[in-house]
Amino acid sequence: MTCTVGVSIGSLSKDSINRKLAHAVERLAPDTLQLREIGIGDLPLYNHDFDADFPEAGRAFKKAVEEVDALMFVTPEYNRSIPGALKNAIDWGSRPWGSNSFAHKPSAVIGTSPGKIGTAVGQQHLRSILSFVNSPELAQPEAYIQFTEGLIAADGEVRDESTRDFLLRWLETFEVFIGKVVRANRPAVP
Ligand code: FNR
Repeated sequence: MTCTVGVSIGSLSKDSINRKLAHAVERLAPDTLQLREIGIGDLPLYNHDFDADFPEAGRAFKKAVEEVDALMFVTPEYNRSIPGALKNAIDWGSRPWGSNSFAHKPSAVIGTSPGKIGTAVGQQHLRSILSFVNSPELAQPEAYIQFTEGLIAADGEVRDESTRDFLLRWLETFEVFIGKVVRANRPAVP
């Protein structure tokens, strides 16, 4: 089974190390996982008033989420939480009320930071948000990547063997998890 995975990167920075990690993960992904970016940078700040007349940017984001089989969030930790831009995007996707685009969509979270705990606290906040929007999340392995000089080459190659092996195993486990959730979501044949 081939699955499409929408990748949202929590950082809008042009030199983002999380974008580098997303690129590296994309290079390592098997052909059966087709990764494509779902951008979050063009969304205006969500405001409840938009629910009455949902703007095109919000509709396009929701459509992109709904079209993929699964979601991957590659995000930095900001002040021990997730960046506002990512929370904003999730708020958009969860609305208007009664049309939550994340419901039953399998997801996985990964992130990198120069710090030793590699986004662990931010990821816990993201997991809490994803639970609330009813997205089944890959629980294990957790993926906290400490970004060190030379870890990822400019072409996206992961230079450290143990990190490369870990990412390959993480992708494999995610693929199996997506398959399980997709099968469970299928309507029962009468
Ligand atoms: C950070 N950084 C950071 N790092 C961390 O490990 N825990 C944290 O809570 C924070 N908080 C934080 C807040 C803000 C506003 C910034 C700009 C940065 C450092 C962060 O990990 C580092 O800048 C990464 O390079 C951010 O990832 P991207 O944007 O390069 O992908």
